[in-house]
Amino acid sequence: MADTQTLPHIRFEARGPVAVLTIDRPEVLNALTRETLRQLEEAIVRFHGDPALGVLIVTGGGEKSFVAGADIGELASLDPRGMEELSRYGQHVLGLLERGPKPVIAAVNGYALGGGCELALACHVRIASDNAMLGLPEVKLGIIPGYGGTQRLPRLLGTGRALEMILTGRNVKAEEAAAIGLVNRVVPRASLLEEAEKLAKDILKNGPLALTAAIDAVTRGHDLTLEDAQRFESSAFGMLASSKDTREGFAAFLEKRPASFERR
Ligand code: COA
Repeated sequence: MADTQTLPHIRFEARGPVAVLTIDRPEVLNALTRETLRQLEEAIVRFHGDPALGVLIVTGGGEKSFVAGADIGELASLDPRGMEELSRYGQHVLGLLERGPKPVIAAVNGYALGGGCELALACHVRIASDNAMLGLPEVKLGIIPGYGGTQRLPRLLGTGRALEMILTGRNVKAEEAAAIGLVNRVVPRASLLEEAEKLAKDILKNGPLALTAAIDAVTRGHDLTLEDAQRFESSAFGMLASSKDTREGFAAFLEKRPASFERR
């Protein structure tokens, strides 16, 4: 059953354990104002706080855009202090997605530029439709990416490829994005949400505590030395062993039946 909440810039729909969050300002290609970021934060907090929800899909409203970036009209009204503050707020909201306890899939349904590309980068997995176009064109406006793009893009693609994209501001089409690892795969536009939901359901078959631990180990591990990150991995590996999830996972394997994990 679907349970929909509509904020002025965001639609949030729970389809059983899968939540679909749509940035919905198609008249400006879903550009992000500060208020849109605030509503995004509200929806993320709702997702994290609802034990019935296991995976979030983030997408854009309308036919041609995921998110075409920060709202340039709003940026143009800000002084340096306001720009820095907005950058920090955008980083905070996107960080909530990346560092949160539950998996997030970006269903990139068109333009994912600037802050839109950064939003996709903060998701754990990216699927793109065949009409998608991704890039960090900020230098064309005389600014740089400000919602984590200068950090997450090189971590994903390597410094050389990321700097080429950031310095030229060149946008890449879906197929090239898949070839360089910017998105995981490309699917026809008409089946994008269906594919994202299929992926969500595959993820949902697994132990929820293990999913959280895996996100933590991968995302937090980036900021640690290899030795410390592996220690973090071992300690999460050990902690999980005392959980109901692990007992169920092991028992299901040994009894040759599918595991049935509880979401709480
Ligand atoms: N901020 C504010 N408004 C935006 C926007 C943004 N980032 N991106 C698009 N829009 C608005 C346009 O101003 C236009 O509004 P209007 O109808 O009142 O003129 C509307 O969305 C439709 O965009 P338009 O440019 O007419 O569509 P298009 O198909 O010709 O081009 C893009 C699409 C994405 C190539 C183009 O809109 C664009 O380059 N946007 C800016 C991308 C960007 O630099 N993002 C990084 C920002 S930091």
